[in-house]
Amino acid sequence: MKRNILKHKSSPVIILLLAVLCYGCQSSMVTQKEEPTLKKIFEDDFYIGAALSGSQINAEDSATTHVIETEFNSITPENVMKWMYIHPEPDSFYFEMSDRFVELGHKNGMNVVGHALVWHSQIAEYMNEVSDSLTMVDYITSHINVIATRYKGKIDTWDVVNEAFNEDGTYRESNFYKVLGPSYLELAFSLAAAADPNAKLIYNDYNLWKPEKRQGVIRMVKQFREKGIKIDGVGIQGHWSVQGPDIAQVRSCIQDFVDADIEIMYTELDLTTLPNPWELVGAEISQNYEGSPYMNPFTDGLPDTMAVKLGERYQDIFELFVEYKENISRVTFWGVNDKQSWLNNWPIENRTNYPLLFDRASKRKLAYDYVAKVKLSETE
Ligand code: G3I
Repeated sequence: MKRNILKHKSSPVIILLLAVLCYGCQSSMVTQKEEPTLKKIFEDDFYIGAALSGSQINAEDSATTHVIETEFNSITPENVMKWMYIHPEPDSFYFEMSDRFVELGHKNGMNVVGHALVWHSQIAEYMNEVSDSLTMVDYITSHINVIATRYKGKIDTWDVVNEAFNEDGTYRESNFYKVLGPSYLELAFSLAAAADPNAKLIYNDYNLWKPEKRQGVIRMVKQFREKGIKIDGVGIQGHWSVQGPDIAQVRSCIQDFVDADIEIMYTELDLTTLPNPWELVGAEISQNYEGSPYMNPFTDGLPDTMAVKLGERYQDIFELFVEYKENISRVTFWGVNDKQSWLNNWPIENRTNYPLLFDRASKRKLAYDYVAKVKLSETE
């Protein structure tokens, strides 16, 4: 007589055998299943981007390279295209890293962002010494002409001017402003438009959730339009925290740009998980403070409660972004993984922060799942 092993409940060996077989078939199903990546999940909504460090452009870590190539369809150089690196002396340009960056984007069919043509920070020293308008115009002209012409047709979007406003919506007293007044912004956008007429040209800044600051930016865009100066949109950086700004404030910000018919991109998204005793907001990088262990509480990992908080906050933000997908063309994270993030060193140096969707080994974090479920739950 044939024995029916399924009815043979009392045999622990058989139960173990079945369990092993079952686990084996489940785990091979898991590895065979193609997990959707961020760029696929949000393909009907907006580009999903990341800012790349020099070592990421050089593909020094294979796990991170894999994440860059599979999860993102837009890239921004975190530092290598900034004035001090790309144009360190009036007559010398350094293109090795920026060429490599652009090549990486093209090899992977990505949207390529240039960051940033004109910014008062990370500027070459000689630019801070300029005090006459002819020299200033001359230097800005050669900077934009040479760089934007070199990458004509290869950079999809340029951050033409970065962080030119104060928190109250007036113009920042950078050296550009001191020498040329607000006309330096018009000059920069006009030069970029002439050098690469098909590139998208945007103005980029932080803390635009503050109504006074964004009103300054909206005023400028309107003035440009009246004068026929090409400006295609505004980059909202999004250096926020787990606590704030409120979603309602982010919504009003988006709505103001929508009402003014201005395309927006979230260009530098990250959420600090660390305490900030001075209640600093945004990204004013000139502020630096001494640290203390109390200010660096998560050196051994982010506690579960905080990980969930971070995930929920990202979920709220992405739900809002998807709601406004007609007006938001790109969402870029300021970094690929937590290890790279500038927030480990600002406003206090050498802390352990957790602001992004990938951990220090470039593995997906819990926050990744919260972002993904914004769209995946729609199709369930
Ligand atoms: O190049 C030097 C290197 O030679 C030296 O060994 C090393 C030691 O600290 O420092 C290197 O320079 C650092 C540079 O990044 C490149 O890694 C600077 O100290 C550091 O201050 C600089 O920080 C960058 C910051 O801009 C500077 O303003 C961050 O990586 C970068 O994420 C950050 O990005 C800005 C955006 O461009 C504009 N919006 C705000 C955003 C955050 O501040």
